[in-house]
Amino acid sequence: GNVVDDGSSTTTTSSIITSEESLSRLDFPPDFVFGAGTSAYQVEGAAAEDGRKPSIWDTFAHDEKRSDMGTGDIAADQYHQYKDDVKLMHKMGLDAYRFSISWSRIIPDGRGAVNPKGLNYYNKLINELVSYGIEAHVTLSHFDIPQALEDEYEGFLSPNFIEDFTAYANICFKEYGDRVKTWMTFNEPNVQTIVGYGLGDLPPGRCSYPMGVTNCSKGDSTTEPFVAGHNILLSHASAVHLYRTKYQEKQKGQIGISLQAVWFEPMTNSPQNVAASKIMFDYFVGWFLDPLVHGNYPAIMGKIVGSRLPNFTENDVNNLKGSFDFIGLNHYGSFYINDLPQRSDEYGSDYIRDVSVTGSFANGMLVKDFTRLILADQIAVKGLPVTPWSIQRLLEHMKLKYKNPVSVIHENGYAMTDDDLSNPPTRNDTERIEFIQAYIAALLPSIRNGSNIRGYFVWSFLDCFEVTGGYTNHFGLYEVDFKNKERRRYPRQSVQWYTNFLAKTGKKN
Ligand code: NOJ
Repeated sequence: GNVVDDGSSTTTTSSIITSEESLSRLDFPPDFVFGAGTSAYQVEGAAAEDGRKPSIWDTFAHDEKRSDMGTGDIAADQYHQYKDDVKLMHKMGLDAYRFSISWSRIIPDGRGAVNPKGLNYYNKLINELVSYGIEAHVTLSHFDIPQALEDEYEGFLSPNFIEDFTAYANICFKEYGDRVKTWMTFNEPNVQTIVGYGLGDLPPGRCSYPMGVTNCSKGDSTTEPFVAGHNILLSHASAVHLYRTKYQEKQKGQIGISLQAVWFEPMTNSPQNVAASKIMFDYFVGWFLDPLVHGNYPAIMGKIVGSRLPNFTENDVNNLKGSFDFIGLNHYGSFYINDLPQRSDEYGSDYIRDVSVTGSFANGMLVKDFTRLILADQIAVKGLPVTPWSIQRLLEHMKLKYKNPVSVIHENGYAMTDDDLSNPPTRNDTERIEFIQAYIAALLPSIRNGSNIRGYFVWSFLDCFEVTGGYTNHFGLYEVDFKNKERRRYPRQSVQWYTNFLAKTGKKN
């Protein structure tokens, strides 16, 4: 039968978990960066304050089809509480905070007039971080772009987007680049495209597949994910080119992109499953990684998607290839892949060919069905199986197939519901501690084996408005009391764990 390989048979993995007890940051290179992250719409709130106008995420969350999940109108209220939050980061000993800028605050209409109050907010946040010596890792677009651009030309679907994104990036580099030394253009474009245009379960909420979880009525899921992905890649390359030619020498920062980098593990060692797992990685992660490293889409995508996959010009190839200083990897675990050659499919052949995702990426990424290549029900219902070794396989793959780029684990974390968080008032998150500690420990063999991995960020610093699940799905080290408008923060036990882990520095001992 299909026995799930827990990875314990591989040489690099079995020894690591036992050493967790004594694990501390002293085990890592001195310049290894430890942090935690959030994103603008998920934590800021103040959605209509100081000149901010709606983003596609506001529109999506307010759509009556989804508004039962809540909205980011208030979220964790970080817009008003950033000072206290930065203090908490400092207390925890974070080296870095990963957050995103809301384009809708900076240029509320997407293009044209810049909003000084919006600019000011991030100046204040960045200055606060700097005053505590906390590095800012800043994402320019984390699933949100101004709604005005969606209305005008359908956002990511239009090549017009490239110019507008670059102009927005220019303002951010110019305004904040003296203090921000790590930039990401986009967060998880591979999720934004598949889920936003294949399933309709992320902004802009378009889909045409019958299994679209939100019954969207617009869009063409057979083409739009690929068009959006293409424009995102070209926008990324354009912003990087701008940064490199105009800012980098002076500001001495680095620029990259964060990708969702789940690992695909063959369910068994059969050649079919091994091949299918490779295809899945190429299709899901290689879609963005191959153009950045090698200058073009993976060959398998060309084969599967055919003429629906846009082409790069020679000029595009030159701009894309090497257009990063580091790759951010958002890694939460693995999917087990089972190749089912002739599955009868309820969703239609286009869906099968497109390898889209159904289910959702939150709640520890519950997946109901991925493609015919994935045996959905094998995936643990509460989330991905905890597979710390998968981070090693991912990094090994980055080494062998992608020239071992400088990389950072930009997200890793564990979702819990109120039910999971027993011990009212819900601050006992032992499972999360075990998860985080196992993944951090799993990085050590990769470092020893020469992977260029430079940092690790917990998702998330505090409870957020979650991508799926809204306010019922808690990733936070800090709990946020969403029931009261004060949005008070309470440390979960994981805060203590991370604090202890980070406190053991050469200096203090
Ligand atoms: C992916 C996304 O980048 C983030 O926005 C989301 O909240 C987490 N992972 C957890 O689902």
